Parts: sequence; structure tokens; C-alpha cells
Amino acid sequence: MSSDRAPFSVLFVCLGNICRSPAAEIIFTHMARERGIAGRIASDSAGTIGYHQGAPPDARMTAALTKKGYDVFGASRQIVADDLTRFDWIVTMDQQNFRNVCELDTHQKHVGKVRPFVGFCREHEVKDVPDPYYGGTRGFDFVIELLEDGCAAMLDELEKRV
Ligand code: 4NP
Repeated sequence: MSSDRAPFSVLFVCLGNICRSPAAEIIFTHMARERGIAGRIASDSAGTIGYHQGAPPDARMTAALTKKGYDVFGASRQIVADDLTRFDWIVTMDQQNFRNVCELDTHQKHVGKVRPFVGFCREHEVKDVPDPYYGGTRGFDFVIELLEDGCAAMLDELEKRV
């Protein structure tokens, strides 16, 4: 069924936008395509810091994603206040990201749309998608496992609305 509605839009947010949030966008996009609903959903990712502006996903995350068959894409950018208006959901990887995004919402106009990613997970009960940047390979694999869990649940919810 085709629709004239604008695609439902999701922005994934982490700290540097080179590990967790680009991986979330890649996995989410891959799964949306597999379900045949990619045309009704738009996604992007951003970091709360601009330190890695323009950089592709981290080489270790790229290796972990490639090993699992994902096509890797993306260039880091910093979140801006206008993203809160542009996107339907802003999905944050950890509690610090959540607080930083909420701080951008100076007039509390977008409170309901800022959603912690772990709130979608069904198979894992964790407080955060942990930052893998300073750890080893297993940290990247675990992040992907969490992201697959939460993205599948998000898409189950979105399939009913888009
Ligand atoms: P991300 O990981 O937030 O998942 O992209 C990090 C990337 C860079 C840094 C920290 C975490 N950094 O300190 O530069």
C-alpha cells in the first residue's frame, strides 16, 4: 500500500557518532529494507560532540558490522537543536546522551520524542548501550547484539503505524 504521508523519521544519537549510533542506523535501515518498509521510514544518526565531524564509522565497528553482513555507511555529524523539530523520534544510546539531547530542548517542546534505545530492547535488560570506544572487540559485538534486539522491536512498533 502506498502512502502520501512523509516517512516516519528516527535520529539515533550517541557521543561521537562513529560507533553506536551509525551502527544503529545501519542495522535499522537493513532491517527496514528486509521488511519492505524502507520507503516509509527515514533515519539518520548524530553525536552530541562534533569531534569526529565528517569521519566514517570507527574501523572496529565497521569490521564487526561487515562480519555480520551489514553494508557500512555514514559520516559523523553533531546533533543540532533543529533535529528535535525535524525528527519524529530521537533515540539515545545512553543516559548521558539522553540528558544532553534533553538540554537542547530548551523549551521542553519535544519531551515525548526523546527515547532511550534500551527501552525498546526485549531480550536484554540493560541501562545503556555501552560505549565500546575504549574497549575490545567483544564490546563491539555486544553493541551490535543490543542494537539488533532494539531495532527489531522498534520496527515491530513502526510497522503498525507507517
Ligand atoms: P560512540 O563512541 O559515541 O558510540 O560513537 C565514541 C566515539 C568517540 C569517543 C567516545 C565514544 N571519543 O571520546 O572520541
